Amino acid sequence: MTIVINMRRGLDKRKLMVAARLIREGKLVAFPTETVYGLGADALNERAVRRIFEAKNRPADNPLIVHIADFEQLKELAQEIPKEAKLLAERFWPGPLTLVLLKAENVPRVTTGGLDAVAVRMPAHEIALALIRLSGKPIAAPSANISGRPSPTTAEHVAEDLYGKIECIVDGGETRIGVESTVIDLTERPPVLLRPGGLPLEDIEAVIGKVRIHPAVFGKKTDVAKAPGMKYRHYAPRAEVIVVEGSRERVEAKIAEVVEELKRKGLRVGVIGRESYGADEFYHLGETVEEVARNLFRALREMDKRGVDVIVAEGVEEKGLGLAVMNRLRKAAGYKIIRV
Ligand code: TXA
Ligand code: MG
Repeated sequence: MTIVINMRRGLDKRKLMVAARLIREGKLVAFPTETVYGLGADALNERAVRRIFEAKNRPADNPLIVHIADFEQLKELAQEIPKEAKLLAERFWPGPLTLVLLKAENVPRVTTGGLDAVAVRMPAHEIALALIRLSGKPIAAPSANISGRPSPTTAEHVAEDLYGKIECIVDGGETRIGVESTVIDLTERPPVLLRPGGLPLEDIEAVIGKVRIHPAVFGKKTDVAKAPGMKYRHYAPRAEVIVVEGSRERVEAKIAEVVEELKRKGLRVGVIGRESYGADEFYHLGETVEEVARNLFRALREMDKRGVDVIVAEGVEEKGLGLAVMNRLRKAAGYKIIRV
């Protein structure tokens, strides 16, 4: 059975105690963060963590992010805390930034997918922070979706994928950022961007200097041992996805052409972007890249509900949050990209 705790009007510590107790008992609790909903369990409890992988149907070698509520907790999770970690944490935590560090002895390998490194972040969400504090545990939490599906930005999305499989869902309304955290590997020199996300790379580089971008970020099939999450198909709705990217005017003309062609073949076509371009179904992603990031996963799920055969997605410029948006879109498309 899954209990749903309504906290849409803000943090209620008395209600949250129920969820915190479940975490202490080794149960699974989905909760909101500023990026997407997480599926949480006690990060140091192997059996609890194993259940996360089962519920999501997640490959065991794809490691989890451990969520903390204050910097002191990092010392129990990481073997050493490099200078860059201190600088970044000071500047961006709580926030959508995940740091990969050498793990301490007591972090189970189930949690890190067998790796010697652990990923840690402090979420900027009052419910998430209170849940970590009330449970007294670091909380391992991947996105609260079935593996391969778009990440959940509402409690309804979580329920679509996991209702009946987990003990509790804390409903804190829609998440603010809408794409997952930025993941930086600090076990390498220079540091490596493993996943673009809610914190722009430009902001990180302003604090610690040049960061190398892992080729997997652009879908290159290289050594993925360091970025295990990158090798799996992701964010994929049931419909086929095609991304059109390039300069704005050319993209607009091309999408209209692609839509017409697909419709001529008798396919039901959905467009996610700024305009409908004559498609059967349309989801307006927004004008700013922040709006596009916030609406992206919802739009992909929505197109499936409307039963389209093909989703044509309008690309955005790869600046700021745009790097994360394009990474998610290209993955959803299985790298079916039209560049104009
Ligand atoms: O915003 C977020 O990060 C959300 C919320 C719930 O915090 N969580 C999330 O978790 O997106 P998940 O599991 O969906 O993505 C975690 C990513 C994966 O790409 C995984 O491979 C990478 O972080 N990761 C985790 N631990 C790692 C490690 N030790 N070394 C390298 N990559 C790691
Ligand atoms: Mg995920």
